[in-house]
Amino acid sequence: MNDYYLLGRSGLRVSRLALGTMNFGTGGFHAAYGKTAAEAEPIFRRYVEAGGNLVDTADFYTAGESESILGKLLPGVRDRLVLTSKFTNTVDPTDPNAGGNGRKHMIRAVEASLRRLGTDYLDLYLLHTWDRITPVEEVVRTFDDLVRAGKIRYAGLSDVPAWYAARAQTFAEAHALTPMVTVQLPYSLVARDIEAEFPAMATTLGLGLTAWSPIGGGLLTGKYQRSGAGLSGEGRLGGQRAVSEREWRIVEELSKVSAELGRSMAEVAVNWVATQPAVGSVIVGASSVAQLDGNLSALTFSIPASLRARLDAVSAPVLGPPYSMFTPSYQSWIVSPGLGIGDKPAGYQPPVWNAA
Ligand SMILES: NC(=O)c1ccc[n+]([C@@H]2O[C@H](COP(=O)([O-])OP(=O)(O)OC[C@H]3O[C@@H](n4cnc5c(N)ncnc54)[C@H](OP(=O)(O)O)[C@@H]3O)[C@@H](O)[C@H]2O)c1
Repeated sequence: MNDYYLLGRSGLRVSRLALGTMNFGTGGFHAAYGKTAAEAEPIFRRYVEAGGNLVDTADFYTAGESESILGKLLPGVRDRLVLTSKFTNTVDPTDPNAGGNGRKHMIRAVEASLRRLGTDYLDLYLLHTWDRITPVEEVVRTFDDLVRAGKIRYAGLSDVPAWYAARAQTFAEAHALTPMVTVQLPYSLVARDIEAEFPAMATTLGLGLTAWSPIGGGLLTGKYQRSGAGLSGEGRLGGQRAVSEREWRIVEELSKVSAELGRSMAEVAVNWVATQPAVGSVIVGASSVAQLDGNLSALTFSIPASLRARLDAVSAPVLGPPYSMFTPSYQSWIVSPGLGIGDKPAGYQPPVWNAA
């Protein structure tokens, strides 16, 4: 765990495995699988003791409890952590400006997060979800104001379209405003949709991807069994998630590959995400210290190329045109491969489906 990456084009060093705290607290949307403060504390302490520094929360998680619980755990370790929170979701359904990504809500939200966390700055502040309304220029400018006001150190985005992130970064660059250092997105063997746009965008524009739900909320641990169109088994997904045939094929192949490697399925699933192009850090969640330990060991081994190819193949996203046109075979119609200009700049890693 003493292995830190720079997040995007920045000087911020972050653990390659971040701690997700969406399940810290028992209120709000995440109540069904939330943990009490007493249950959350050892998970947090273990992460920090193992050398982790990137802690992810949001004002929305467990209706603010996640931040309040963290606030009580921070004294003594706050400065060494890269404390991340997010805004977007409403904190008052009767007030149209108490949610969304407008300047008024952004400023109110950061003040409220700082109060709950008991700190006077956030290391990283993220727009949680695109609201489809607020101009990107307003968001970028407000991030810049928050940096200048000393409320946040770095800015980033979560769950936005790639064009929006690209526009934000380009606008920031053109006007010498605070750049985005990360885009936080769902990414796992069962969720590879982001590969169509994001790794290339992130690599080109200096953003580090941070991946959420790397084990599909528990699906990729092997602890669930088929039950009709869904699953059964102990855990937060039990009885409430439909699972497709494609997903079961991925789970089955992951099970075989993990057995051949002598590693748990969760370790292999987390390792796979962490070593995908453009990924800066992977946000793991845990219900217990034992689960966390099981995930923190995910980067202590390498997945051999032949086994990785099997995981890539079974989970390959199915993409139509224009994405299916960005392959060497199509590109050879543009410039003859014999002319030798097919190589990409150092550091560029094409998405895996481009192998054909
Ligand atoms: N930006 C966003 O929109 C967004 C969205 C979602 C999450 N996030 C962030 O990403 C973090 C991680 O998300 P996630 O919790 O969905 O990630 P995940 O790592 O895919 O799933 C974690 C869950 O899987 C189970 N689990 C974890 N390790 C296990 C192990 N070794 N063996 C068996 N079961 C295990 C636990 O649930 P059970 O014990 O109940 O099975 C745990 O809560 C969140 O805490 C949050 O910080 C961000």
